[in-house]
Amino acid sequence: MKDWERLLSEAYAARKNSYCPYSGFAVGAALLTKDGAIYRGCNVENASFGATNCAERTALFSAVADGRGKGDFAAIAIVGGKKDGELVPCPPCGICRQALSEFVNAEEFTVLWAVGTDGAFEDCEAHTLAELLPGAFAL
Ligand code: THU
Repeated sequence: MKDWERLLSEAYAARKNSYCPYSGFAVGAALLTKDGAIYRGCNVENASFGATNCAERTALFSAVADGRGKGDFAAIAIVGGKKDGELVPCPPCGICRQALSEFVNAEEFTVLWAVGTDGAFEDCEAHTLAELLPGAFAL
């Protein structure tokens, strides 16, 4: 689990930039590439609620915009909770699972989340994307 602490810590830092005036729920994500780079993301809300972008997709789209692509990614860490409150378990939403499935080998890609605080994460859960999104849509 120690290996994941750095990634969770990056997600924790990313969460500080969350823009969530409507839900008050702040999420941070950190996407790890197979060559060791980390892309951070936070949720970015909008007055037109459907225009909101989740933290996981912010990280993914940032990586793709930076030239990363299919097969480049190893894992993503996610932390979330009420803006000034404690972390709660934050598994990725269905849209983010599908968005990730476009770019990863679902049998190998790890999705993890935890509670606690930076430097003292607890109850870390780790699953492959295939476990979280069986039968993903693909063209
Ligand atoms: N949210 C994420 O950023 N990731 C998820 O996987 C679930 C939900 C955000 C979207 C919205 O800004 C807030 O959490 C409440 O739904």
